[in-house]
Formats: sequence, structure tokens, C-alpha cells
Amino acid sequence: MKGKFTLGVLTLMLSAGAMSAAQAYDGDWKRGRIYYRQVCTVCHTTELKKAIGPNERTQAEWAAFFKNDKHGKGKDTVKHFFSKQYRDSIKATNAAAAKFAAVPDNELLEDVKAFLNRSAKDGDAPAGCS
Ligand code: HEC
Repeated sequence: MKGKFTLGVLTLMLSAGAMSAAQAYDGDWKRGRIYYRQVCTVCHTTELKKAIGPNERTQAEWAAFFKNDKHGKGKDTVKHFFSKQYRDSIKATNAAAAKFAAVPDNELLEDVKAFLNRSAKDGDAPAGCS
């Protein structure tokens, strides 16, 4: 009985530890906004000829977009546009990519997710592109 209890407590402690490690980074929506506007939107306005406003989608739609990890028609992953490699390739002409050149990929991804979640159609502060 005592052994079982100890094991149970240990399991709980371990899983709490794993959870806090996975959630250790809290997305910074302000940095995400800069990255979204200066990297994502700049390309959409040049290549797609139109911006994609955060408020064109719901939080659930943005979450599905990131979960699928397919950008456009699936030519690239979404993660590709957060990679250091991608930032390096555009930093000569892109101030945000240069400024955040050393930020871990996953932090930038969480930042943009936080921004889109906040600015989605059903978010706390819906926002378009301007
Ligand atoms: C190099 C240019 C470029 C960059 C950078 C870029 N996009 Fe795109 N994006 C496009 C183009 C072009 C399309 C239309 C693609 C198509 O339909 O084939 C598109 C489409 C989209 C779409 C709508 C289609 C879909 O897949 O649901 C979303 C959402 C999107 N991009 C989000 C993002 C986000 C978020 C980022 C930044 C992390 C980003 N894009 C960065 C060029 C870019």
C-alpha cells in the first residue's frame, strides 16, 4: 500500500515536471505581431497580392493551420517560415528576420501563435493587417 502511494506521488511529480517543461515558454504576442507583419504579411502582399488578416480566421482555424503544418498548397511546411535557415535566407532584406535571427524557432512559432490567437475573428483583440 505504502509502495503504491509513493509510486503514485512520484508519477504525479514526474508528469507535472514534464508539463511545465513543455509549457516553459509563453508566446510573446507583441514579438509575434512584428514577425507576422514583417515576414508573413510582407510576402503575402507581394506574392499573393493580398494580406491575410488574423481576423479572417477563428482561433480554431488558426490552430488547425498550425497543426496541419502545411502552408499554401502544401509546398512548404508552416514551420519552414519560422526556421533559422529561412530567416538567414531573407535577413539581408528583411529587418524582422535580421532582428530575430538568433531566436529559437519554437519561440517565434509560439509568439506568432499567441498573436494570431489574440487577433483572430473570435480573439480578445481581433485585428486586420494594418
Ligand atoms: C515567401 C512568401 C511567403 C511567406 C514568407 C509566408 N507566406 Fe503564407 N502564403 C504565401 C503564398 C504565395 C500563399 C498562397 C499559396 C497558395 O495558395 O498556393 C500563402 C498562403 C497562406 C495562407 C492561406 C492558405 C492556407 O495555407 O491556408 C496562410 C494562412 C498563410 N499563408 C500563413 C502564413 C504565415 C503564418 C506565415 C508566416 C509564418 C506565412 N504565411 C509566410 C506566401 C508566403
